[in-house]
Amino acid sequence: MKKVGKNGKRKLEKAHLRLRVNGEEVEVAFAPHKTLLEVLREDLRLTGTKHGCELGECGCCAVLVDGRPVLSCLALGVAMEGHEVTTVEGMAVGTELHPLQQTFAELGAAQCGYCTPGILLTAKALLEHIPRPSRDEIKEALAGNLCRCTGYIKILEAVELAAARMAGEKAEPAKETIYGWE
Ligand code: FES
Ligand code: FES
Repeated sequence: MKKVGKNGKRKLEKAHLRLRVNGEEVEVAFAPHKTLLEVLREDLRLTGTKHGCELGECGCCAVLVDGRPVLSCLALGVAMEGHEVTTVEGMAVGTELHPLQQTFAELGAAQCGYCTPGILLTAKALLEHIPRPSRDEIKEALAGNLCRCTGYIKILEAVELAAARMAGEKAEPAKETIYGWE
């Protein structure tokens, strides 16, 4: 709704929202037309979520809403009232990286890193749903996440290695897949 300010110009009333972000209750006020991506980056200062195509085509803005991957550039912030949003900032527990973050680092599955937050969160949702996915299931889950750097193989291997470790296996990367190995 628009109000008239002291200078006679019409100004937009802000939307007020209560939601959970990375396990914490948050209240935030923002222009009601903003996307979830804009609210996260500009109003909550959670800049780990990346701003790419804004068209739903690259996947780098993916976050989890109630545990499911959502492209935050296509979701309105006001639609998040009462929901639980997880961003990449919420993956580590204290100083302990999520197993996916650990394996991405070990295998060099993040290079420039721009696609990485969206991929990590999409993979996290996959592993919560299918703890030991096949390579085809991983490819399908990550089909909407584009990466310009890695050629994808390291990403697939990192998801497989994290899945094995999360299942309790003492899995180590093959020596030739470790970043920097010669
Ligand atoms: S920025 Fe959202 S899909 Fe590209
Ligand atoms: S690591 Fe650069 S776009 Fe994926």
